[in-house]
Amino acid sequence: MRTKALSALARRSPEPAISWLMQLTLDRPKLISLAAGFTDNESLPVAEAAEILHDVLKPGRRGQAALQYGSTAGDPRLRERTLKRIEKLDGGSTGYSSDDVIITHGSQQLLYILTEALCDPGDIVLVEDPTYFVYLGILQSHGIRARGVRLTPEGLDIEDLARVLEDLKRKGELGRVKMLYQVPYFQNPTGWTSQFERKTAALELLRKYERAAGHPIYLLEDAAYRELRFAGDDVASALAAPKFRARVLYAGTYSKPFATGARVGFGILPEPVRTAELRIKGNHDFGTANLLQQLLLRALETCKYETHLAEIQRRYRRKARLMTRAIEAHFPSSIVWMHPAGGLYVWATVPQGVTSGVKSKLFRTGLERDVLYVPGELCYADDPARRKPNRDLRISFGGAADADIPVGIARLGSILRKLV
Ligand SMILES: Cc1ncc(COP(=O)(O)O)c(C=O)c1O
Repeated sequence: MRTKALSALARRSPEPAISWLMQLTLDRPKLISLAAGFTDNESLPVAEAAEILHDVLKPGRRGQAALQYGSTAGDPRLRERTLKRIEKLDGGSTGYSSDDVIITHGSQQLLYILTEALCDPGDIVLVEDPTYFVYLGILQSHGIRARGVRLTPEGLDIEDLARVLEDLKRKGELGRVKMLYQVPYFQNPTGWTSQFERKTAALELLRKYERAAGHPIYLLEDAAYRELRFAGDDVASALAAPKFRARVLYAGTYSKPFATGARVGFGILPEPVRTAELRIKGNHDFGTANLLQQLLLRALETCKYETHLAEIQRRYRRKARLMTRAIEAHFPSSIVWMHPAGGLYVWATVPQGVTSGVKSKLFRTGLERDVLYVPGELCYADDPARRKPNRDLRISFGGAADADIPVGIARLGSILRKLV
């Protein structure tokens, strides 16, 4: 009876894994969660935000404007600043104007709306294998098929992308392929960063298949972790390749680098996708909360953002080191993992014969001993073209307290030593 009352979309939407992982963390105070994508609590910019909000909410026109509705696309000054920031990172003008920028309620809203703007049920989105598991939930609830493309520490495996596209062409399904979704900076879940050349090679290939597809095939570049770099140099975004300007959908966020609780994200989008996104956002909320936009705008204008970012980069470098030292000390040498250069995650793969999924001994014993990680299996698309891998762990140093990181890793290590 209840099922009949619900829409097809609601029926296709099981409880997202992110909800139960977060709930588990909140319900069990003794649990050391190396799972949640929470950012570091201690360094959240509470004092800075209080000062800014005090300033923004002074009596008068400015305070009133901050508590009033704004426009669907977002505050023009924040859009301008946002574009300038990305252009600075990309080493010069991208040829975009601030009219091409949309401010959204977190980049999550942008990803959701973009998917609705481009895809119908039965369509196909190419995803990195593995990928951001919350995005897989968006695809599933819309009845959109995800097709995995092998990911390497340097970026997408271009030969595999070619194989996948050729296979879809042979099956007459190319017309259903709408975009390739990538998290090219300190990827969630692997922590790997794609080389610029891999992104342009992917765009080149997608373009080659557009004629057979009968429509453009976009690259959605989700740069959520781009600014959380604590080693090495930034890699330019695909926006920096003028040849592909009309095919790149750039998703960014101020959540991770400033305050996850503020949830201010943004998109830089070509037409006609930008207008479609704006219209759908108009139906969703006709504009991101103005007060939060003013918070971010003032943080950027007063350099509080920059100062805070430098501080959290140092902090994550330290937390990452705490984690990697503990891994070196406690994990068996047969576990494969890499040192992260940014972001919040270490991706570890256990040897053949051991599994890491929700039902595995490793995961269950971990819970009994109050340590939680994200089972890698959640990050792979339900892709009939291959068997879902079940040997990976996403371990986060973002939210856990400094003192808990080595303790959690030591617990995992002692379980692993008995299993491998
Ligand atoms: C890869 C990726 N994209 C997007 C988001 C959404 O972030 P927000 O909506 O806070 O900008 C997240 C959050 O964890 C993420 O990991």
